[in-house]
Amino acid sequence: FTRYTPAAGIPELRNAVAEQACRDWQWPELAAENVVVTVGGKQALFNLMLAVLNPGDEAVIFAPYWVSYPEMVRLAGGRPVIVPTPMDARFQPNAEALEKAITPRTRLVILNSPSNPTGVAFDRRTVEELADVLRAHPNVWIATDEIYRKILFSGRTHHSIARIAPDLRDRIVIVDGVSKSWRMTGWRIGFAIGPRAVIRAMAAIQGQSTSNACSIAQKAALAALRADEAEIRAMTAQYEARAKWLATQLSKAPGLRFIEPDGAFYLFLDVSARLQAGEDDVAFCTRMLEEAGVGLVPGSAFGMPGFVRLSFAVAEETLREAARRLLHALGA
Ligand SMILES: Cc1ncc(COP(=O)(O)O)c(C=O)c1O
Repeated sequence: FTRYTPAAGIPELRNAVAEQACRDWQWPELAAENVVVTVGGKQALFNLMLAVLNPGDEAVIFAPYWVSYPEMVRLAGGRPVIVPTPMDARFQPNAEALEKAITPRTRLVILNSPSNPTGVAFDRRTVEELADVLRAHPNVWIATDEIYRKILFSGRTHHSIARIAPDLRDRIVIVDGVSKSWRMTGWRIGFAIGPRAVIRAMAAIQGQSTSNACSIAQKAALAALRADEAEIRAMTAQYEARAKWLATQLSKAPGLRFIEPDGAFYLFLDVSARLQAGEDDVAFCTRMLEEAGVGLVPGSAFGMPGFVRLSFAVAEETLREAARRLLHALGA
C-alpha cells in the first residue's frame, strides 16, 4: 500500500465516513462523493477557505476562536470579521451579533462546538437562532468544525447545525477527523463532509497541493472508525473527571474565572484580575512558565486577551503536579 491513493481518499474510508455521517447527522443522502479525506481537520478547513473565498471576501469568526481560522482566511485572501462571545454568555455565539456582522461581502461563517479553547458546546437554542439568521443569507457558506463532538461530558448533547437545520445543508461543510476523538493527532487524517460540488473543488485543490493524505494513515483511520467507541467513551470519562478535579482546584486560586467545559480537554481561564502591573496574558504565560514550569497558551492567540488556555490532555501525574505548581505560583 505504498502508492498514491485517489486525492480525495480511498473509497473504503470515504464510504465509512459517509456512513457514519448519515447516522450521526441524520443526513441520509450522504455518500462517498460528499467526503474528502484530508491531512488533518486543518487541511479540510484550509481547502474549504481556498474553495469558497475570493480576495476581499469576509468570513465571520466567533472569538475566542481556534488560532488557525483567521490566519487561514487571510491566506485565502479573505478578511476575518471577529465577533466576540463573552464569558458571561457562556461563550455562546449571539444571533443578533452575527446578523450585524454579515455584509454583502460575507461568504463564510465558521462555527466550532465543542470549542477549542473553551471546551464549551453550543446550546440547541444557540444553533437554532444562528440558523434563523443564516437562512436569510443564502450566499454564506457555513463551516461547522465538530472535531471534538465525541468528547462530550455526561448529560451534554452535541447540537450540530447540520442536523438542526437540514434546509441549510446545501451550504454546510462539516469538519471532522480522527485527531481528537481517536487520539490520532500525528496520523494526520481529517474529513470534510458537505455538498458534492464544494467537496469536488476541495479535492481538486488538494490534488494540486498535497495529493492524498498518507495512504497508511488512511487505513489506520478506517480501522479506527470501524472500532468500538467504548474506548472513546472511557477516554471522555477520564477527561470529565480531570475537568471536574481541575475546576475544584482552580477555584481555590483567588481572582480566576472560568466556565466548566462541556467537553474537549481545555479550560479557558480569565486571568485578567491576576495580571501584575504592566503584564498582559502573554507575559503572564511566560511568568508561569518561568516560575512554575507550566505551559499555558495566551488567550490573545484565540482573540481573547486577558485569558489563558490550559490543556488537560496530559498524564494524570503531570496534571496534578502542574496544578500544584500553578496554585502555588498564584498564592493559593
Ligand atoms: C477546533 C479545531 N479544529 C481543527 C483542528 C485541527 O485538527 P487536526 O489536528 O486534525 O488537523 C484542531 C486541532 O487542534 C482544533 O482544535
